Formats: sequence, structure tokens, C-alpha cells
Amino acid sequence: VYHTPESTPENQVPDCAVVIDVLRATTTIATALDGGAKSVKAFSDIDLLLADSEGLSPTERLRLGERGGKKVESCDMGNSPLDCTPEMVKDKQLFISTTNGTRALQRVQNADVVITGAMINYGVVVDFLAEKQPNNVWLVGSGWEGGYSLEDTVCAGAIASSLIKNDNIEMIGNDEVVSAIALYQQWQHDLVKLFTLASHGQRLLRLDLTDDLKYCAQENIIQTLPIQQGKGSLLFKAL
Ligand code: MLT
Repeated sequence: VYHTPESTPENQVPDCAVVIDVLRATTTIATALDGGAKSVKAFSDIDLLLADSEGLSPTERLRLGERGGKKVESCDMGNSPLDCTPEMVKDKQLFISTTNGTRALQRVQNADVVITGAMINYGVVVDFLAEKQPNNVWLVGSGWEGGYSLEDTVCAGAIASSLIKNDNIEMIGNDEVVSAIALYQQWQHDLVKLFTLASHGQRLLRLDLTDDLKYCAQENIIQTLPIQQGKGSLLFKAL
């Protein structure tokens, strides 16, 4: 487990990276693909996002942009998973840029396999890892601007604690795995409360996004696993 993209070992990538940004990028990506979006492509830079999506008509694409929790003016939508209804996203190609989540995706984009996890779909992440048994797996929290986040760590803990229950898996992890599991064990029955204690949870509450926070705190309500299409592409489709 790594709490931030910056804390991952330099010049290395794992066999499999699981990028986690529970509030809200990886919740949004999973929700959009579950709602029938064709694909979601991530960008750290809004201008590159706008340029890359330029060739598609507005009926074929949706541009999602968020900074500091707020919608970016030049985009169609912010980063709310609740806006990604099937009516909005079905058959569309999505282009997304967010404060921290897309940076975390960029950091590990050259791993053999990159998938995304959130509380709403971590069960399918566990199933995927149990089936594929990659030699080394990084669970990478997006954090907030280089700092630790409770919501990403508790999700890493949920994934790790499910994995260690699986007899086929021998898990040797860093100290962060042990503390992530402890965090999940402590808070698994009160995730909404934990998220309201989290600094980014508080930011979302200040922006009147309580429903987003509650949605992101639900466990395994969807079975969709976003997976990167080719090393370095930052293009995600449902497995
Ligand atoms: C991020 O990438 O930092 C987030 O997903 C922020 C958010 O939209 O809540």
C-alpha cells in the first residue's frame, strides 16, 4: 500500500497497480463505465483533455473536469459520480481530469496491468487479484496534493483484508498494509462517519456534496472493474 503516488518507489512499476481515489475519481470512473460509458480517458492537464476530445461531436463525448472539488468551467461536468447516470453516459467516450486521481493513474500507467478501485466496487478488484495472482501488486491511494487520505487508505484496507482471507494468497506487505487493514476493521461499519472526518470529505461537505460522500461510502454496489487498455494509454474500459 502506498498512501500517495509520490510515495511509490521511484523508477519502478509493479505487475499490477490498483489506483484508489474513493472521493471521488475512481468512484466516478467505475460508475460511468457501469452506466454504459464506452471508455474513460484520464488527463492531468485540462488543455490536453480539451484538445484530445476535440475530434468527437458533443453527442459522442463528455468532458469531466474537477479542481479543488469544483467543476472546471470549460468542461461539461465536474467529478460527481451521481452525475454519471446511464442517461448521461451511455455509449459516450468520457475524458476526465481531477486534482489527484488522474495524477495517481499517470504515476503507474506503465505497470503491466492498471485497474481502479473504490469502496463501491472493491469486491471485483479482490476477485481479479485472486484469479490473476500477480507477483507484486501496489494499492496506490491518490491522497490529497501529496498527503495521506483516510478514504483511500480504508479502501486499500478493505481490499487487503479480503485478500488475506483467501487461502491461495500469501501476502507480504509493507507497514502501510497492516495499518490500512486496521483502519478498515475499525471503521467498516461506519464509513460515512469516517469520510466526514476526512479532510477531503469535509471539503465536499463544505461544497454541499453530502450525497456524493454517502454514495462513495457504499460497499460493493457495482461489479464493474475499470482496466487500462494498453500500457500508458490512460484509457479505461470495463473488463
Ligand atoms: C481528486 O482527484 O482529487 C478527486 O477525485 C477530487 C474530487 O473530485 O472530489
